[in-house]
Amino acid sequence: MAPVAVIGSGLIGRSWAIVFARAGHAVRLWDGAPGVAAAALARIEAALVDLREVGLLDDPVEVTQARITVALSLAEALKGAELAQESAPESVAVKRSVFADLDAAAAPATILASSTSSIPASRFTESLAGRGRCLVAHPVNPPHLVPLVELVPAPWTDLAVVERARGFYDAVGQVPITVRGEIHGFILNRLQGAVLAEAFRLVADGYVGAEDLDRTMRDGLGLRWSFMGPFETIDLNAPGGIIDYVARYAGLYEEIGASQLPRPWDTEAVRRIELERREQLSATELGARAGWRDRRLARLVAHKREAATADDAASGGAAPAHQRETAAADHAASGGAAPADEGSLADA
Ligand SMILES: NC(=O)c1ccc[n+]([C@@H]2O[C@H](COP(=O)([O-])OP(=O)(O)OC[C@H]3O[C@@H](n4cnc5c(N)ncnc54)[C@H](O)[C@@H]3O)[C@@H](O)[C@H]2O)c1
Repeated sequence: MAPVAVIGSGLIGRSWAIVFARAGHAVRLWDGAPGVAAAALARIEAALVDLREVGLLDDPVEVTQARITVALSLAEALKGAELAQESAPESVAVKRSVFADLDAAAAPATILASSTSSIPASRFTESLAGRGRCLVAHPVNPPHLVPLVELVPAPWTDLAVVERARGFYDAVGQVPITVRGEIHGFILNRLQGAVLAEAFRLVADGYVGAEDLDRTMRDGLGLRWSFMGPFETIDLNAPGGIIDYVARYAGLYEEIGASQLPRPWDTEAVRRIELERREQLSATELGARAGWRDRRLARLVAHKREAATADDAASGGAAPAHQRETAAADHAASGGAAPADEGSLADA
């Protein structure tokens, strides 16, 4: 396996190092600030211990950790690298400068991927000789627990590079999606933004409180959405599948949509939500609760992995990855009695 260069060893870079080393790659850490990459090693080790405890790390901690080394220069980090994952600060100027250095120093076959949350690759790669091998590979924090990666090519990114990148992230256990144009916010944050806009509206207009809104997601929509998407959800929520669902409910959603005109997040609603949240959790407890969230997240990811493996075994390994979890959930919902290909219908 070829080495991987991790450029920027902060929150996201450290987590990427875990992803690549866990999959068996040698990882070379580089950071613009002296001492940061070396300091990252201890935090990586602590995260590896946690992963091993919940069954999300196949190799022993020390074996995985030994694959990660600190590079003394950018050139050393890039030597023989299949891919460089840039995770430097979110600024066009920084990305421009780092990508110019990466393009000058990396071998022509090395893929140059940016973790940027919001800056399209066309804003920092246009003038580079190797701009065809540059793209955005946007992770969700932290990528060693949340596998989605949004691949967003610039107009000049080679399609073969996008395909190679997709194969690479897939092989290291992430879940890549390809975004077919440089839309602001990519896909994930646009979906999250749509949900947040409606959540703020409903609280602002007095229809629901913050805790009950959170319950609606946590104990309603979110249960299914943790293992299937909205299209698969509606495909299973009408006897005749998605066409039938649309025939039954499109009118309702169009009427609702007419009342969902864009508006800024309401300041007074934000104040009320903050009051309600602080009654549930004091500001001093936020850090501890974030730790709890990550432990719950790790257990959920471990559960999804087990369900997918069980389903894979049940189908003789033949089911495509995207179908595995659906069938596993179906199997569980039917008490394990229904054949994997016999779908059960959920209510609308
Ligand atoms: N934090 C998130 O939730 C999140 C999620 C997805 C994507 N991202 C993206 O990932 C990138 C990194 O974010 P982060 O949260 O890890 O930030 P961070 O501040 O934790 O880490 C950035 C690191 O980059 C280093 N750095 C600064 N200049 C550099 C240079 N010229 N070359 C190499 N390293 C340099 C810094 O010393 C620091 O260690 C950003 O583009 C961000 O938008 C962040």
